[in-house]
Amino acid sequence: ARRSFIRGTGGYLPEKVLTNDDISAMVDTSDEWIQERTGIKRRHVAAEGELTSDIATAAARSALEAAGIPVSEVDLIVLATTTPDQTFPATATAVQAKLGMTGGAAFDVQAVCSGFLFALATADSMLRQGLFNTALVIGAETFTRILDWSDRGTCVLFGDGGGAAVLQAEDWTGDELAGVITHHIRTDGTKSDLLYVDGGVSSTGTIGHVRMEGNRVFRHAVTNISSAIQAIYDETGLTGNDIDWFVPHQANKRILDGVAKKMNIAEEKVIVTVQEHANTSAASIPLALNHAVRSGRAKPGDLILSEAMGGGFSWGASLFRL
Ligand code: ACO
Repeated sequence: ARRSFIRGTGGYLPEKVLTNDDISAMVDTSDEWIQERTGIKRRHVAAEGELTSDIATAAARSALEAAGIPVSEVDLIVLATTTPDQTFPATATAVQAKLGMTGGAAFDVQAVCSGFLFALATADSMLRQGLFNTALVIGAETFTRILDWSDRGTCVLFGDGGGAAVLQAEDWTGDELAGVITHHIRTDGTKSDLLYVDGGVSSTGTIGHVRMEGNRVFRHAVTNISSAIQAIYDETGLTGNDIDWFVPHQANKRILDGVAKKMNIAEEKVIVTVQEHANTSAASIPLALNHAVRSGRAKPGDLILSEAMGGGFSWGASLFRL
């Protein structure tokens, strides 16, 4: 049967860094409060004129280079983003043009912080179906552009960045637990009032800003993420002991530690990058995955469990072998 395999990963963070102290000069907060409640030390901010598609393209180029696959082989781009360049066309088509691709298909997926896992599930399904052969799965955001910089409850939490993975289909007759193995993605539209943007094309005609009841989101996050991971444990018969690396969405160190503990994943298997770039929404999982690979921790053959939760609510978990 056809199966997809991750051939390479890449990441990109804008040059400009905003520290907790920098934000403390803007709103009533402190480095101590932010680190203690979230684990965040700094975040990157896109330069003026630097677009989500620029960030996505840089991440994609780095993933292609790592994979040793020329762009001419890519026939699918699935880009997860909440902060597109324009209302339309899809930002993925801007990436397609910037990469010099003239064939294949490119489109965006919107599941906020869970976006990368939704994009991965989408691309994996299409590759397995035989619709395409080589996919770029990207998560990229200029999230700082939808922040209310006077709201200390949200502006300290997010940053800009992008990450990518190259997926390639192969006819596979070997072990079931190879390549991209399984996904559980879920949403619950009744909880949208706890985390949303108060604007949009058809509602206000404005872009709007992020609004969140952080405390209530926090409580739902651990429960929802754990249920998605449990679904993967149930489906595969695996447990936390079998996982080599846990690559969670990087929103808050307390959430990812809470999930790891609940799901019996040892602390030393948890990849944590939130201190470096805060919550980059759809970009955080591929950025963390890329860090795990390039730091030499995650190696070919390692079994990786990933999870995310975001606005919608949307949440999910994925299991794959490098
Ligand atoms: N600096 C200082 N004080 C602050 C700040 C800040 N940046 N933000 C809020 N506070 C204050 C509040 O006003 C409140 O003060 P009060 O008691 O006088 O009213 C106090 O801190 C406690 O506020 P809580 O919201 O109860 O604090 P909590 O411990 O829940 O931490 C936080 C807040 C960090 C936002 C936490 O709830 C959280 O991380 N939630 C998850 C949100 C998240 O990660 N969302 C991202 C998208 S979804 C996802 O990716 C999982």
